[in-house]
Amino acid sequence: MRRDAARKDDPDDDPSSLQGECLLEGRTLAEIVLAYHERTKHHPHRYAASRTMDWATQPDPFRRYAGAELVRLPLPELGRTLPYWQLYVPGSVRPMPLSIESLSIFFRYALSLTAWKRYRESTWSLRANPSSGNLHPTEGYAILPALDGLHAAPAIHHYAPKEHGLERRLELEPAVWSALMMEFPSGSFLVGLSSIHWREAWKYGERAFRYCQHDAGHALAAMRISAASLGWQLSLLSDAGDDEVCDLLGLDRGTEGESAEREHPDLLALVTPVRPEGSAGLPRGLPEDPLRAVAAGCWRGNANALSPAHRDEWPVIDEVARATHRIGESRTAEDFSPLPSEDELFVPLVRSGSFSAEKVILGRRSAVSMDATTSIEAATFYRMLARLVPTRDGRSMPWDTVPLKPRIHLGLFVHRVRGLPAGLYALVRDPGKVEALSSAMRREFIWTRPVTCPPALHLYLLAEGDCRALAVDVSCGQDIAGDGAFSLAMIADYTASIEAFGASFYRNIFWETGIAGQVLYLEAEEAGVRATGIGCYFDDPVHETFGLSRDWRSLYHFTVGGPVEDERLTTLSAYGPRSSAPAAWS
Ligand SMILES: Cc1cc2nc3c(=O)[nH]c(=O)nc-3n(C[C@H](O)[C@H](O)[C@H](O)COP(=O)(O)O)c2cc1C
Repeated sequence: MRRDAARKDDPDDDPSSLQGECLLEGRTLAEIVLAYHERTKHHPHRYAASRTMDWATQPDPFRRYAGAELVRLPLPELGRTLPYWQLYVPGSVRPMPLSIESLSIFFRYALSLTAWKRYRESTWSLRANPSSGNLHPTEGYAILPALDGLHAAPAIHHYAPKEHGLERRLELEPAVWSALMMEFPSGSFLVGLSSIHWREAWKYGERAFRYCQHDAGHALAAMRISAASLGWQLSLLSDAGDDEVCDLLGLDRGTEGESAEREHPDLLALVTPVRPEGSAGLPRGLPEDPLRAVAAGCWRGNANALSPAHRDEWPVIDEVARATHRIGESRTAEDFSPLPSEDELFVPLVRSGSFSAEKVILGRRSAVSMDATTSIEAATFYRMLARLVPTRDGRSMPWDTVPLKPRIHLGLFVHRVRGLPAGLYALVRDPGKVEALSSAMRREFIWTRPVTCPPALHLYLLAEGDCRALAVDVSCGQDIAGDGAFSLAMIADYTASIEAFGASFYRNIFWETGIAGQVLYLEAEEAGVRATGIGCYFDDPVHETFGLSRDWRSLYHFTVGGPVEDERLTTLSAYGPRSSAPAAWS
């Protein structure tokens, strides 16, 4: 098993104190992670540790760096007609040149506000990327060349969603920029994500670390999908370690004050004009010398404190964050050849659709309740599921972002899919795992393929029957799990993945669930229905439902169906006219 290391410059985390994989009290990093997961399970009679919300310390959803110059991005005109289905057809969108306008579209479709909602005296914003509890722990960054209208020199910027602007945190010497980007195709730039664990912990207590990772996965997918709308590629720099991410995003700079909550490094990704060969062969790491120059740079701005005080701290979150700290190292490429091709998955290929990409992306919303009547066609169901399966050429969007085979499979509760019997189903996203998953599940499951299912979509009926009440029960009693057309559990090949890739890979598995969730959200919009992520589920009852052995874990749930709108809410536009945006957090 790989050894991960704790952060090099934190006195609490002196790596020299690690014995092999040991971090604390003789426990390996993997043991710490598995113990965290175990103790943050929700049980029907005992939820993971949290306290009642203290409204006086509700975290501000908007981080700003006072003293860093903010440049507002020009709001893109609404009404781009690019069809949604085209996002998934490699090479079909002519790459836009990088400019302040195209950059603005990139952030608008990925991380911007999409609406303000008002109910009586309360106002809150919603974004292109979803977030558990709408708490938005994820912060976005861009490392950009000199750009007309933005800045005359290369620089590192923090994205400010409320203003749809970029705060310049560090100007880069042109030589440092060139050295940083030397190995990458010309016209490329970098984006990064970090998480403020406190935002989620404020509401969800110890389970919050899981939710931060889901949200990071959603945000990564939102950026990938946005890039696709511009004809750009987005590739995770999977070899970059957390210290490098931290240095490049300046996460230790401007948050030194007592009160500003720390941002934890998540990831870096490369954005390139599309390449005919996809992301194969791109470097996945960063050179060291320019990073040293960046770390020694003159950073601008001081982070705001998000809460006036922190009543509850959760040491176990800091512990799992340390145990999953990633060191930079290259991984061997995985063999994608057993995965299906696009034309084996989609029968027929999807080359038409209902909506524009913009309508789907900016219109995405979570259903707060489902109507318990809407059904969908089996063909629609198959298409949604096929979008979740990476193809063997490694070019299926958004899975082309991550150079790894799937670790997540689905256990489905099918309620209202026309042409399919209701019941429990499994979708095995990696055909090489059918046997392993079937032997990990209940022996009585029948593992029958629906006759209408495309041959390469490994969908199996496990047991026929009405599972609406069961879906609700295991989803913390949330009716949305039974009132939709289907709901599902994302089941991870958990122990084997952590053994193969180390403790830090715990975060990657959660990101994969977030990416899958983002696809489901958009596919639901395109199909005229709606989805909702479900982070609140009872872990062990789900495992019992499918009969899963300890090596497999359900990490995230989802529901898709006909939404019921909450008519009591007023919807306001996200930015226009700009000056009239509600001053909820000003
Ligand atoms: C990781 C995650 C977990 C979530 N869990 C639940 C849940 O258990 N129940 C629920 O009703 N909504 C859940 N949601 C939906 C969020 O409440 C929703 O994304 C948020 O309020 C923002 O609204 P929007 O998705 O319409 O932008 C979850 C969303 C995410 C991303």
